[in-house]
Amino acid sequence: MTPLLPFPGPEIVMNRRASMDEPYGTTRREILNLDAGREATSTIACWPGYRPTPLIDLPGMARELDVKRILYKDESRRFGLKSFKALGGAYAVSRLLKRIVSEELRRDVSATDIAERRFEEIVAGITVTCATDGNHGRSVAWGAHTFGCRCVIFVHSRVSDARAKAISDLGARVERTSGNYDDAVRVSFEQANRHGWHLVSDTSFPGYTTIPRDVMQGYSVILEEEAKCWKEGLPTHVFVQAGVGGLAAAVCAYFWERFGRTRPHIATVEAEKAACLFESAKSGSLRTIRGELATIMAGLACGEASLLAWRILETGAHFFVTIPDATAAETMRLLARGCGGDRPIVGGESGVAGLAGLIACAGNAETRRRVGLDARSTILTIGTEGDTDPELYERIVGRSAEEVLRGSEF
Ligand SMILES: Cc1ncc(COP(=O)(O)O)c(C=O)c1O
Repeated sequence: MTPLLPFPGPEIVMNRRASMDEPYGTTRREILNLDAGREATSTIACWPGYRPTPLIDLPGMARELDVKRILYKDESRRFGLKSFKALGGAYAVSRLLKRIVSEELRRDVSATDIAERRFEEIVAGITVTCATDGNHGRSVAWGAHTFGCRCVIFVHSRVSDARAKAISDLGARVERTSGNYDDAVRVSFEQANRHGWHLVSDTSFPGYTTIPRDVMQGYSVILEEEAKCWKEGLPTHVFVQAGVGGLAAAVCAYFWERFGRTRPHIATVEAEKAACLFESAKSGSLRTIRGELATIMAGLACGEASLLAWRILETGAHFFVTIPDATAAETMRLLARGCGGDRPIVGGESGVAGLAGLIACAGNAETRRRVGLDARSTILTIGTEGDTDPELYERIVGRSAEEVLRGSEF
């Protein structure tokens, strides 16, 4: 078989601690669970502009890779924010506001009360904050804008002006910090403490877990939306991209709790320059990657994994894969052209990373065998973003998202 991408096979760590027989269990259920996922789905379904995102079949690419089926859950139009992150940060803002207002009024208020801005005066006095490499901050800013609170977002030195502007366009104050994403997380934590702001971080650390748990639980809506599809047949594999690991943990937890030993094999895919989960899996405990974390996959440029996410992935993920930037860029172009007659799709740099990891693994005999891909495999991938940085997208693909979509029927 001729490989779709002209690159050597990716780096892989097989997780010896992952066992299909291990039950999901109460400790992990305290982090993420199906009941909380359904609550997130019913809350988010009531927000203005909610629509489930499409699950797209890629038969042309499946043929090229000699697998049975490839599914691509396309998050590029989620709430007009162009990424799946719209689910997590904004959901955590809504849960936070509900808790604060309930405490202040000494009675329980509902998620609908918050969505319909019934306690505007209290909410207007609250400030939320976070660090971001683009998408999470945009989601938090959108939540603040939608529910009526104030917002300050910290962007690190490598976040593009286009991504920073998309956040300030939502009414948030945007502050630049020096260093990488993990440094920006530390600044946002200090500033929140200093000013009495509420930190809505997508990453968890000792002593800070409630809000990141809400963020991750919001992501499970992606899989809840396709609950009917899983009843008809489960994927054999999921290739899911990871920054701090929140999305991958949400995906892993959902399938593990719901389907136990029949669940799909989970492969996390990271940028090779920011592979904190990969390195942690290799050494058997959480590891930090320092330095610039230079990658075009901006959403994956995280050197420190989320503690809660790791708690799930350390025994739940089956493979940890890394890919270079060139693999992501080539996959963006492949999707935009439409592979083997598939319809063209707009996928951003981090957005295509899971699919890029699959293509890289499937196209190399050795890695294909190691992850168990063959002509009977059905693989779920999540297109986590569209052209969140339109200029960069056009530079990589050679056409704008609009031009690509003109060739598509939706
Ligand atoms: C587009 C995109 N995909 C994937 C991820 C990774 O998510 P997580 O950091 O939860 O692993 C991010 C994170 O910002 C992202 O923006």
